[in-house]
Amino acid sequence: MLETELAGVKLQNPTVLASGILGVTGASLVRVATQNGAGAVTAKSVSLKERKGHPTPVLITYEHGMLNAVGLSNPGIDEFIPEIEYAVKNAGVPVIASIFGSKVTEFGEIAKRISAANPGIIEVNIACPNVDDEFGRPFSYDPGIAGVVTRIVKKNTKIPVFIKLSANVTNIGEIAKSVQESGADGITAINTVGPGMAINIEARKPILSNKSGGMSGPGIKPIAIKAVYDIYKSVKIPIIGTGGISTGRDAIEIIMAGASAAGIGSAVYYRGPGVFSKICSEMQEFMDKEGFSSIKEMRGIAHEK
Ligand SMILES: Cc1cc2nc3c(=O)[nH]c(=O)nc-3n(C[C@H](O)[C@H](O)[C@H](O)COP(=O)(O)O)c2cc1C
Repeated sequence: MLETELAGVKLQNPTVLASGILGVTGASLVRVATQNGAGAVTAKSVSLKERKGHPTPVLITYEHGMLNAVGLSNPGIDEFIPEIEYAVKNAGVPVIASIFGSKVTEFGEIAKRISAANPGIIEVNIACPNVDDEFGRPFSYDPGIAGVVTRIVKKNTKIPVFIKLSANVTNIGEIAKSVQESGADGITAINTVGPGMAINIEARKPILSNKSGGMSGPGIKPIAIKAVYDIYKSVKIPIIGTGGISTGRDAIEIIMAGASAAGIGSAVYYRGPGVFSKICSEMQEFMDKEGFSSIKEMRGIAHEK
């Protein structure tokens, strides 16, 4: 039994397509849900106005993961609303819309407009590390500002709001507490880590056009596990645990740290879009072997030892 729940939103299984991976159109979101078995799908983060993002190369792989500096490219909210509407109508699983803004006030406006498309959850991305120069420090680095963004979004929607946090902070539990007190219905953690850099030694220069990029994939999993563990200790709201989850065992690990669902991003590149169904059968196999009959039974169990 793989069912789980995120702030009243029911999922048939705990695998969630992470934002920015495949979820660039309504059709791709529907495909991941209907053909690849994801329990919920998150769209790419959308802003008020179109953003071109960074020039290529924007993504490279290294030994233990990936570096990306896509730069939050998106067509802007007006173009994107029909994509979310299409996904909501056809995916058959909860659709999570992801929003971000360059100013605190923008978040309210985007939340209000995206709500018209009726997504199951609104995820608020205040954690992207590769657009630093433009936006200053990500809003998720400061408990006060993270709380202000949460309150503005909550004021502008009735849809459950999940705040996406960064692990690039000294005390993620404190940030989680602030967003919970400000009315967040849940937390997604974590976004990419770093930023990091890779240099082409023949060309004698950084590979990414942006020079640095957010790190994701297997190498960041221990950071994600610790972040979720700390958040679970600090708040009562549900967590979508994301960061380096590639197998059923990884998904179980983040659930045992305290997550109610497992976000999956980079693993789509490593194992293909079928990764969601694969992770579900690997989880079921572990649960049968270990005598677990529900996700709830395993959630946060690592805190009891
Ligand atoms: C190519 C790429 C694009 C991403 N775009 C977004 C985005 O638009 N919004 C967002 O909140 N996170 C974005 N992320 C972060 C992922 O949603 C996820 O939090 C992170 O990659 C860690 O999970 P993973 O190790 O499973 O990839 C992106 C990640 C990658 C690799």
